[in-house]
Amino acid sequence: MKVVAFLGSPRQEGNTELLLNETLKGIEEEGHEVTLFRPSQMNISPCLNCGECEETGECIIDDDMAEVYRAIKEGERFILASPIFFFGLSAQIKTLIDRCQALWCEKYLLKRPIPEGAYGRRGLLLMVGGMKREIGFECGNATATAFFRTINVPEHETLYYKEVDSKGAIREHPTALKDAYEAGKRLVKY
Ligand SMILES: Cc1cc2nc3c(=O)[nH]c(=O)nc-3n(C[C@H](O)[C@H](O)[C@H](O)COP(=O)(O)O)c2cc1C
Repeated sequence: MKVVAFLGSPRQEGNTELLLNETLKGIEEEGHEVTLFRPSQMNISPCLNCGECEETGECIIDDDMAEVYRAIKEGERFILASPIFFFGLSAQIKTLIDRCQALWCEKYLLKRPIPEGAYGRRGLLLMVGGMKREIGFECGNATATAFFRTINVPEHETLYYKEVDSKGAIREHPTALKDAYEAGKRLVKY
């Protein structure tokens, strides 16, 4: 099964990365291949709303999104992992999501949704925030839901952890790393 993961945190070995690594460990133990994208280390321009994709379903910007579009079309399981920044997903992952407007046009305007494939398409959303408040996760989940449905992923599981702030603090959480590991195993169950 082809698994595609997006790591939205710019912090190396930060909480989101530690959480995602546990998920990937669970998936790799099951023998599945993972393609990982880290938008903070990629050349991805924001959407220009030029309108070209409304006619063609394709983005005219020539940058690293080309490999992301390919992976999204070929993938079967998708993981979106992001810290909460100002009550939403990080700017790095949001930039990548906005560029999926081309896939939105392809699905909803041109009526060419990405085919389901032999194993269907399913998602997992992982979020980490430093605050007690839940609103960031609600906003993050709304954006992630729009992303998943646009790339023709009809269902996703969500795990989120609040009050996890300093680098590596997720290691102190009583269940987070184990939850993420088990969610990875569940994601690739047929
Ligand atoms: C620019 C910025 C904005 C943030 N805004 C929020 C926020 O709105 N809500 C929240 O719960 N945490 C917020 N945080 C805290 C991060 O979500 C938290 O430190 C998280 O553990 C970072 O994950 P990482 O280590 O994977 O980057 C913010 C952190 C930064 C740097």
